Amino acid sequence: MEPIVVLVFCLSSLLLVSLWRQSYRKGRLPPGPTPLPIIGNLLQLDMKDMNNSFRNFSKAYGPVFTLYFGMKPTVVLHGYEAVKEALTDLGEEFSGRSDYPLIDKANKGFGVVFSNGKTWKETRRFSLMTLRNFGMGKRSMEDRVQEEAQTLLEELRKTNALPYDPAFILKCASCNVICSVLFKSRFDYADQIFLNLMEKFEENIKILNTPWIQVCNIFPILLDYFPGSHNRFFKNYNDVRHFILEKIKEHQQSLDLNNPQDFIDYFLVKMEQEKHNQESSFTVENLVNTANDLFGAGTETTSTTLRYGLLLLMKHPEVAAKVQEEIDRVVGRHKRPSMQDRARMPYTNAVLHEMQRIIDIVPMNLPHAVNHGIQFRNYFIPKGTTILTSLTSVLYDNKEFPNPEIFDPGHFLDECGQFKRSDYFMAFSAGKRICVGEGLARMELFIFLTTILQNFNLKPMLDPNEIDVTSVASGLVSVPPSYQLCFVPARTDG
Ligand code: HEM
Ligand SMILES: *[C@@H]1O[C@H](CO)[C@@H](O)[C@H](O)[C@H]1NC(C)=O
Ligand SMILES: *[C@@H]1O[C@H](CO)[C@@H](O)[C@H](O)[C@H]1NC(C)=O
Repeated sequence: MEPIVVLVFCLSSLLLVSLWRQSYRKGRLPPGPTPLPIIGNLLQLDMKDMNNSFRNFSKAYGPVFTLYFGMKPTVVLHGYEAVKEALTDLGEEFSGRSDYPLIDKANKGFGVVFSNGKTWKETRRFSLMTLRNFGMGKRSMEDRVQEEAQTLLEELRKTNALPYDPAFILKCASCNVICSVLFKSRFDYADQIFLNLMEKFEENIKILNTPWIQVCNIFPILLDYFPGSHNRFFKNYNDVRHFILEKIKEHQQSLDLNNPQDFIDYFLVKMEQEKHNQESSFTVENLVNTANDLFGAGTETTSTTLRYGLLLLMKHPEVAAKVQEEIDRVVGRHKRPSMQDRARMPYTNAVLHEMQRIIDIVPMNLPHAVNHGIQFRNYFIPKGTTILTSLTSVLYDNKEFPNPEIFDPGHFLDECGQFKRSDYFMAFSAGKRICVGEGLARMELFIFLTTILQNFNLKPMLDPNEIDVTSVASGLVSVPPSYQLCFVPARTDG
């Protein structure tokens, strides 16, 4: 190479480094490891073990620190105090959603999970109200979940107590509850349309979890100029959009404004009410993306928690036995478990909380952003900065939950065996962005798990001591190792 080229190259690199150093020291962002130009702190992070990476950084820099993902500063909050201060006490300021280039390209700022500002506020309020008010329609939310639980039972009986991996069927059940909420009716598990839909979601979740996509999100320019799995992502996304649009058209034709039957009906009624408002957030475009968001947020989280939960119950057969004893006492063997029963089932309730605590399904929460520049403790966080809140650090707090690594329903029971709630239970996050589907998700977890335990004994393929319950490292969500079990219908007597 020409010496002059080498010289120019070296000089411009030096310039870049010094510019970078100046710019990153600007403002008073929280402390953190020194980033490199372009790639930031990526080399100092173990992407496969973020919880320990964060823990190590918090030991070195305190509960509020800055990491650079590429050139982009991200403030990490670690531990209950900092997380609560941001999400709850300063809820409004910290209620923004950080941009996620791949998804922003797909949903164009609509929907509820990744939207911001007015669209987010209005869509969120509407979604919360509608999910809550479903009791007013002809069929309550609970009715829909119970119906799904009964179908699930029939499917599990068909396994004839042979070794069986429940992953797929649990996904079907969770996805179908969302279908029932959105479209009024559920699908048959063998329905080809339903199976196609599930396949596309499944593939997109896989794609979102690949390293390539993480790289694309840090360097979004790649999305425009390189072929790659993101194109497959957009294709799947469009297919699902198309499917939802068809459903919306059917709903528009059959809509009775005075008698809405499902989420889409309610949304169409709202559209009608706001039809003279040019700025309304209630448009077909937004409905498509909101429906898609409910699938995305409500299927994988719930089904993975159920699948992980069953594994934990096999690892701890004494816990499963106590839950079954409580079911026998409160519900009996013939009545369908309902939410009314839960109030009289403190042990089961504690077990469900302990499951969600230890599973820690979204360890780093979904990324937030600050809506405007804000003074936080001794630092200044500029508008739009991405905020990661470590839910792991809260759910595994060792003062609130002594021996946090151990699965112990006692973490949620008082001395009298009554259920004991905890502010540290942040599996659904906290504050203004807290999970919209919390009520529905709790209902699904309770009804599905009690219905299963009412009718089956869970027989593992291994001795409980040998069952491995450590989550397999992944991107956004914790996933249990895959496993098989036998659903033994031993409880149909009496
Ligand atoms: C075990 C099940 C579930 C868990 C653990 C869970 C957890 C979460 C978490 C941690 C967030 C992020 C909150 C934040 O940004 O601070 C979230 C958001 C969300 N969840 Fe869930 N979720 C579950 C089930 C569901 C279900 C069944 C639905 C559908 C009805 C749902 C709908 C949503 C929506 C729409 C958001 C976005 C809220 C917003 O950005 O304002 N989730 N969820
Ligand atoms: C952190 O991650 C490691 C490996 O992924 C896992 O073994 C460990 O249990 C996790 N710790 C917590 C507190 O979740
Ligand atoms: C965290 O620190 C411990 C002890 O210094 C080290 O062994 C471990 O590899 C670190 N983990 C990560 C993910 O940085």
